[in-house]
Amino acid sequence: MIYKQTDTASESVLWCPRGGKSMSRQVVSSGIPSLDKIIDGGFNEGDTILVAGQPGAGKSTLGVQFLYKGAVQHNQNGVYATFVESGSKLKRDMLRFDWDLEGLEKEKKVSILDMVQTVSERGVYLNLDVMMNAVKELGAKRLVIDSLSALTTYIHTKSESRSFMSVINKFLENSKCTTLFILEVPWGQKEIGMGFEEFMADGLVVLESSLERFMVRRRLYIPKMRGVDHGLDCYDFYIGRDGIDVSPVSST
Ligand SMILES: Nc1ncnc2c1ncn2[C@@H]1O[C@H](COP(=O)(O)OP(=O)(O)O)[C@@H](O)[C@H]1O
Ligand SMILES: [Mg+2]
Repeated sequence: MIYKQTDTASESVLWCPRGGKSMSRQVVSSGIPSLDKIIDGGFNEGDTILVAGQPGAGKSTLGVQFLYKGAVQHNQNGVYATFVESGSKLKRDMLRFDWDLEGLEKEKKVSILDMVQTVSERGVYLNLDVMMNAVKELGAKRLVIDSLSALTTYIHTKSESRSFMSVINKFLENSKCTTLFILEVPWGQKEIGMGFEEFMADGLVVLESSLERFMVRRRLYIPKMRGVDHGLDCYDFYIGRDGIDVSPVSST
């Protein structure tokens, strides 16, 4: 399948020569060209994507890269809600990649919501309101929630979680805001989240790291991406000076 992406998602067109018919799809670049190739050009506009992984797997880096490149290369504003590390620490750490989030905040292209203190004080729905208002105010087309695990700590039942996810999904779909929900997977745990998020989200990207020959090896795979002809292999990926880069060759 051949895809073409211009400046904004709304101008993106995709051709499907295989079936002889052309088909268009609004794609939103992940901010990682090598990942875009695996997911047929990018995420579907307005979709909700889970990014799951263990500590240090590269989830926040992927989230910030998505937001930063979206603002700088595709002129799409973005909101990053951080519930795990403080906003100032996140901004400091991302400067290692030359991603100046503070500069983008001043230009009103990005908003970093530091929710670390308020996650327990406000209820889940008040936190949700703060994020939704920020999306509306900025006209954001990209949102990262880091992490869904921290945001929903104070939700205790699956039915509460389900209705919470339905509310948020509806809003995001209507706003055409493509969203990455980061999910923290503790070491040794096989399940991802509470076991239903994978069904509710449109896509799932899993980041893994393992120790091999005294070195940490990072791998990525995509078990699910609704409406996308995506790669099903396991790919090596690297975190370097320019952020995340995925190897085009399947991992062995
Ligand atoms: N500038 C950099 N160059 C290469 N690797 C880096 C750089 N900055 C961070 N890393 C790697 O990325 C990891 C952290 O990624 P992060 O996105 O914060 O993980 P997570 O959010 O999944 O916990 C670090 O543990 C480190 O191994
Ligand atoms: Mg993180």
